[in-house]
Amino acid sequence: MHRSWVAGAATMLIAAAALAATAAGGPQVRGAAAVDTARQLAADQEPGTWMSSGRTYDEQRYSPLTGINRDNVGRLGLVWYGDVDTERGQESTPVVVDGVLYITTAWSMVKAYDAATGEKLWEYDPQVDRAVGQVACCDVVNRGVAAWKGKIYLGALDGRLIALDGRTGKVVWSVQTTDPTQPYTITQVPRMVKGMVVIGNAGAEYTCRGYVTAYEAETGKQAWRFYTVPDEPGKPTTPELEAARKTWNGPFWKFGGGATAWDSIVYDPRTNLVFFGTGNGLSWAPDIRSPGGGDNLFTASVIAVNADTGRYVWHHQLVPSDAWDYDVTNPLMIADLKIGGRVRHVLMQAPKIGFFYVWDARTGKLISAEQFAPANWATKIDLKTGRPVENPAARYTVDKASLVYPAPLGAHNWHPMSYSPRTGLVYLPVTENNTGFQQLAADKFKVNARTYNTGTISGSAEITKLYEAPGAPPRGNVKSYLQAWDPAAGKEVWRVDQKDFGPAGTMVTASDIVFNGNWSGEFAAYDARTGAKLWSAPTQANVVAAPSTYTIAGQQYVAVLVGARGLPKGQVRTNPLSANNSRLLVYKLGGTASLPTAATSGPSTITTKLDPPLFTGTNEQVIDGQGSYARVCAGCHGPNAAADKSIPDVRYSTTLRSISDWNTVVMDGSRASRGMAAFRGIIGREESENIFHYVISQANKDKAAEQAKAARP
Ligand code: HEC
Repeated sequence: MHRSWVAGAATMLIAAAALAATAAGGPQVRGAAAVDTARQLAADQEPGTWMSSGRTYDEQRYSPLTGINRDNVGRLGLVWYGDVDTERGQESTPVVVDGVLYITTAWSMVKAYDAATGEKLWEYDPQVDRAVGQVACCDVVNRGVAAWKGKIYLGALDGRLIALDGRTGKVVWSVQTTDPTQPYTITQVPRMVKGMVVIGNAGAEYTCRGYVTAYEAETGKQAWRFYTVPDEPGKPTTPELEAARKTWNGPFWKFGGGATAWDSIVYDPRTNLVFFGTGNGLSWAPDIRSPGGGDNLFTASVIAVNADTGRYVWHHQLVPSDAWDYDVTNPLMIADLKIGGRVRHVLMQAPKIGFFYVWDARTGKLISAEQFAPANWATKIDLKTGRPVENPAARYTVDKASLVYPAPLGAHNWHPMSYSPRTGLVYLPVTENNTGFQQLAADKFKVNARTYNTGTISGSAEITKLYEAPGAPPRGNVKSYLQAWDPAAGKEVWRVDQKDFGPAGTMVTASDIVFNGNWSGEFAAYDARTGAKLWSAPTQANVVAAPSTYTIAGQQYVAVLVGARGLPKGQVRTNPLSANNSRLLVYKLGGTASLPTAATSGPSTITTKLDPPLFTGTNEQVIDGQGSYARVCAGCHGPNAAADKSIPDVRYSTTLRSISDWNTVVMDGSRASRGMAAFRGIIGREESENIFHYVISQANKDKAAEQAKAARP
């Protein structure tokens, strides 16, 4: 829907009235977090508030504010910043309500600031046991809080759902939403649905069974729960899970099944449905997970349940019998789109798999599924059946490898996208990447709740051969861009290539500005209609999170949390509290604050130059070490020993100079308090040594490749 100018102007008038009421000492005192259904539904009449992570129930991340516009955005400047005391990835969107700005940081900590001045009002640390980091597949991150009737809600990494007093940060109640003996984690934003708080979990690389639960917001009492995969036969079940069981073979419940709903959950008041997407099955290799085949419902599916009861309404499995870690938990969004001459109430998603889906929100009928990024696993999506038309070469076995794109990182992962009803465009961070797959030999597959149980390897002689074939893409991460996608027409309208690889969330405003950070150390503003770059500011850090915007006393502010992985190229550490310069940055027109420039240091034995010792191992050690690394270490330290998140790149570690230094960290857990738990008991000494030689060998290869590249004219 394209909002008319007249309606827009009316909204602004009501907004001004609402602001005046608050300024005149209305009911919303500072830190009241006084969000309820009526206020959230009327969010457009209060555009200066960003009261939930996606701003509105439809999660469009579109702000009606126009104080910062295309003419004056060049004058945007830093007004205050807050140093964050955890490194690792910072993924939360600032929530701003009743004058207070709330963020979460890595390790599920919460900070509350005066939104105008940056004065820190309170902070809360749930004291998550750092050993939980060992089963957090994709870093110990958190994507933000929910606000409701005086309370701030947080999903903690260790599976707790915690309600805090919005004014003091004191715990009001806390429930354990998972079996703490199982490798579950939570990194997701809790969503408020009719006085309930809804939360899922993660862990589908380990041994988990996915589910989504609603709790009474006042008390923490469980209201409903929806399991995403069937239990073992004989256990009590629901009609839809009974039917789903027929799509599985073998004792799949022994691994849990996976299909965790770890990111998006959206409540649609219009249809009274709650939508969420589910993750991969467990293990990734379908032959291990469900020998003899089957679609394995409800893995890799988008599911709609009744908001009051949590009962099944509709589902669409995007990737039947998924073999490639193709989660479809990625951000879901509701909108009214004009398609084929009529306005449709739709649900949209740009999942990992490279096709942009548009459904009728009420019925789940697939309207379109056009390709938004290079994908070789399927040629198209059949609109009649909803099934992908697969490329047979993408399937792999123990003997046959495949080279697949997008890779498990996805063409689009959790990084929030935004939609402007004015331009009709979705603003989407896209990444191009690929990986090799081969199934692990049966005798090598041993389930361990503390390690990845994907049943696959990403490095082998067969995979290397595929990459050496003519026409093969360069291995790994290729490039990233900000894409403007027309969801009604199913096509790209413009794109802006990023200088460095890496996605970051987006936000769009009614003055047609898209805000988006990047991995070159910048936060930038683009023209929403053309993609022209209008403004940028240095962040001294990589950015993955999405920004938000709000007003205080009529002044528009833009806030973004930065920090992920290491530092951008050429950047030094300036935050004494975190190695990746994690910070909350807040801007307004005419802001004159600046970030510190003096370098500081902190603990770590990571060097900045790729300078490994000479390789002294054997070929056998490298081959065995490569397999063990992929199974046990790659989830955190990145595939092929190259870091892909805020965890040190082991190729740069000085521990490579001595096997005993290495084992002090790897086997004995000398860095356990920093998230590198002891691996004694999970791997043997010989296995640790094999990984050591593999990393040295890989580092030497990569160093040689770097030198060869530098020598080229
Ligand atoms: C759950 C995530 C996780 C897994 C899995 C993991 N690590 Fe780590 N590792 C970390 C973190 C976090 C650090 C950084 C600790 C710090 O800040 O000192 C680290 C640090 C290290 C370091 C020290 C780097 C330096 O500072 O010089 C080495 C070596 C290392 N890991 C090796 C391994 C090996 C080998 C494996 C597999 C057997 C592995 N890690 C598995 C999270 C992980």
